[in-house]
Order: sequence, then structure tokens, then C-alpha cells
Amino acid sequence: MSIATVANGLQGLAVARFVSQAPWAFPVVETVHVIAISLVVGSIAVVDLRLLGLWWRERPVVQVADELLPWTWAAFVVAAVAGGLMFISAAVKYVTDPPFQLKILLLVLAGVNMLVFHYGAYRRVADWAEGRTPRAAKIAASLSLAFWIAIVACGRMVSFTTQDQFGPPPSASASVKAPTAG
Ligand code: HEM
Repeated sequence: MSIATVANGLQGLAVARFVSQAPWAFPVVETVHVIAISLVVGSIAVVDLRLLGLWWRERPVVQVADELLPWTWAAFVVAAVAGGLMFISAAVKYVTDPPFQLKILLLVLAGVNMLVFHYGAYRRVADWAEGRTPRAAKIAASLSLAFWIAIVACGRMVSFTTQDQFGPPPSASASVKAPTAG
């Protein structure tokens, strides 16, 4: 079974047709997506900046991470569900869109970076929480910031690269009345 067949099947689901057809559905889901990703990226950025020693240095890394990461995960679930709903509403156009493909690849890389950090440098956090952050943790934090900025940029770009057109179609614009003087 090809990716195109799967995408077609997803797009045909009742929930997918509802999101693409109800005039308010896509904007509402996208609003939820944007609020959730702000929480995901914002909370991750605070942890990364703390790891880099640029913010909240007076608080131990482990305390900052323990307080913020549950919010990150909860918001990520919401972002993924909302993103998934938008995706299935027009899966055929999204699967072939390069910025969308890059965004998903970057999401996977950000996840791998997080796992490497979590099961690597972070396992010894008790040894370095009060002192200097090890180089491996700073590299992971820098990569994480770069990945998340790129993910947001790709997400934003998708809105432009998958647009069929900007503004009204030619037939409609031809019938737009020219402004009259006075
Ligand atoms: C938490 C990680 C994610 C981030 C940071 C993110 C980022 C973004 C951003 C910045 C936008 C543009 C919003 C706008 O222009 O108003 C967007 C839209 C979108 N995202 Fe995500 N996203 C994430 C996860 C996902 C996932 C997991 C999926 C799919 C499975 C997804 C699918 C979409 C779709 C389909 C759109 C709509 C694009 C359009 O305007 O046509 N996103 N995302």
C-alpha cells in the first residue's frame, strides 16, 4: 500500500471531512495547535536556556525540568492531536509538501536529541545540578533550541507552500468593481 493510498484513506475519514468542510473547524483546531505549540516550545526553551546557564541560574536544573516538563508533555499531546486532525483533513497535499516533511523529520530529530540527553548526561544530573553544566548537556540544549526554532519555521512555511492561491481566484477578482471616485 502506497503513502498516497493511506493519505487518501485518512482524508476520507468522517472526522477528516468534518475538519475540512465545517468552515470554523480548521481555524479552531489550528488555534488550539498554536496555543499548544507555544507551551511546548516555550517550556522547552526555558529548560534549554537554564542548561546553557543563560536563565534561572539560581534554580537547580532538575527543579526547573521537573516543574516544566509535565506541561511540555501535556501540551505536546494536545499539539499532536490538533496537528494530526489538520493533517488528515488534507493528508494528500501535506504528505508531498517539503516543509511539512522537513517539519516531521525535525520533530523526530528533536525527539532523538532529547532521548540521547535524557539517557546520557541527564542521568548524572545529581552530580552537576549545583555546579557547572557539562558540555554534552549544553550541546543537547543548543541543538534542541535550533530544532524547535526550525520546526516552528517549517510549520509556518507549510501554510504558504500548501496554499492553492493567495487572494480571490481570477474569475472573482475580474468581477471586483473598481473603486469609484467620490
Ligand atoms: C509540537 C510540535 C509542533 C510544532 C512546534 C508545530 C508548529 C506549527 C506551526 C508554527 C504551524 C503554523 C501555524 C499557523 O500558521 O497558524 C503549524 C501548523 C500545522 N501543523 Fe504543526 N507543529 C507541531 C506538531 C505537529 C504535528 C505532530 C503535526 C501532524 C501530525 C502537525 C501538523 C500541522 C498542520 C497540518 C498544520 C497546518 C498547516 C496549514 O496551515 O495548512 N504539527 N504547526
